Amino acid sequence: MEFRKISTDSDFEQFSEVSSFAFGIKADFNQKIIELLRKAEEKGKLTGYGAFEGEKLISALLIFNFDMHFRNSLLPMGGIAFVCSRPEYRGKGYIRNLLIKSIEIMDKNGQVVSTLYPFSINFYRKYGWELFEVAKSVRISAASIMDFDMEGYTFEIAKTADRDSVNFYNELVNYKYNLTLRDEWTWNNWILKSFNVGDLRETEITRQLLKVFKNEELVALAPFSYLRDGEGKNRIRVSHIATSDYDHLRAVLGFLKGLSHQFSEFDLFLPMDLNINMFLKERSIKQDIRELAMLRIVNLEKLSNLKIKSADFSFVIKIIDKNASWNDDVFEVSSKENTLAVVKTDKIPQLEMDIKTAAAVFSGFVSLKEAVDLKLVKKLSDVKIEEDMLPAETTFMVDFF
Ligand SMILES: CC(C)(COP(=O)(O)OP(=O)(O)OC[C@H]1O[C@@H](n2cnc3c(N)ncnc32)[C@H](O)[C@@H]1OP(=O)(O)O)[C@@H](O)C(=O)NCCC(=O)NCCS
Repeated sequence: MEFRKISTDSDFEQFSEVSSFAFGIKADFNQKIIELLRKAEEKGKLTGYGAFEGEKLISALLIFNFDMHFRNSLLPMGGIAFVCSRPEYRGKGYIRNLLIKSIEIMDKNGQVVSTLYPFSINFYRKYGWELFEVAKSVRISAASIMDFDMEGYTFEIAKTADRDSVNFYNELVNYKYNLTLRDEWTWNNWILKSFNVGDLRETEITRQLLKVFKNEELVALAPFSYLRDGEGKNRIRVSHIATSDYDHLRAVLGFLKGLSHQFSEFDLFLPMDLNINMFLKERSIKQDIRELAMLRIVNLEKLSNLKIKSADFSFVIKIIDKNASWNDDVFEVSSKENTLAVVKTDKIPQLEMDIKTAAAVFSGFVSLKEAVDLKLVKKLSDVKIEEDMLPAETTFMVDFF
């Protein structure tokens, strides 16, 4: 078994073959996906890696290069996708070895954390990823949307994101949640392109961008897809309402209500801290809570200098990470004036947790106190953990790579 980049035409052809079978995508459509992935690779957006036997590609995965908002900082993040193995070689450890190798590669890349959208949570837990995002998918009827004051608001539907939209979004990345920086290429070849594996199962008609202006200033963006569902019903699925102001969010809902002659229902993808019911006259049609992305800490020490909303604290913790030796150590973790420090130490540990629990705690998916109460963190000595030390935060990632 040899690990190397997927780089030649033959490598990509084999990658296309293996991924087409693994994800059940028709070969001709998969070819288009691979073409897009190769363009993304040329742009430095991702790199493919394979486990090879001679020239034969056995297993593969992609590492996307993102800068993601994490707590109150931007961190280099490696997004893992297209994890697949040749059917006749499954269960032989190729993916296990490739995933472990990918952690090493991401560390060399300087990527501090990694995320992925799992087919199975338990599968990736073994290698140190942990669930870090749950979000809501809410179906609402046009008739249930309240009547809002739309004075001063204007709307534009765009097929592509222009410079203003790109700048607006990249400013918003620093607001909260786990948004990632996107350039024009990413918006126009990725976010507003229909190629996601999940969406291939429905008939997507178009994917566009709603731009919301208040007194001519861009104040919200909402990428959405127009699709026909299994029952032949026209639907709009809003994959993100990007704004930091609830008045502008109301304006987006008001705009959707205005489409009621063509669309009677809308699907909205929302963070857990957004209570949409306060904007509705009646109950929503349904609200699904979805378990989505998982996160791994690639290099714990590199969380030093992270900006974080936390009370000051300091403790010594033993981290167990059997797949990344540099994390498998004892660290002094402290927070002072909302800045984190993580340093290796010879001191005696007061707490112990494994690297997947560290992913949940440091991302804010669970607070440190909750992790202690759930017995995910072992107390080795008497140390007082308060709710405002590494507190919980709403995690929310919307890249769907
Ligand atoms: C998921 C997939 C990539 C695994 O590839 P693989 O080469 O068979 O994986 P490995 O042999 O390295 O096994 C990885 C782990 O899964 C376990 N495993 C593998 N096949 C299994 C099976 N059929 N049932 C239960 N466990 C299994 C292995 O024991 C191993 O665990 P371990 O590290 O504790 O020993 C492969 O089945 C695939 O291509 N599936 C379709 C595409 C897909 O769903 N990809 C994931 C996208 S997020």
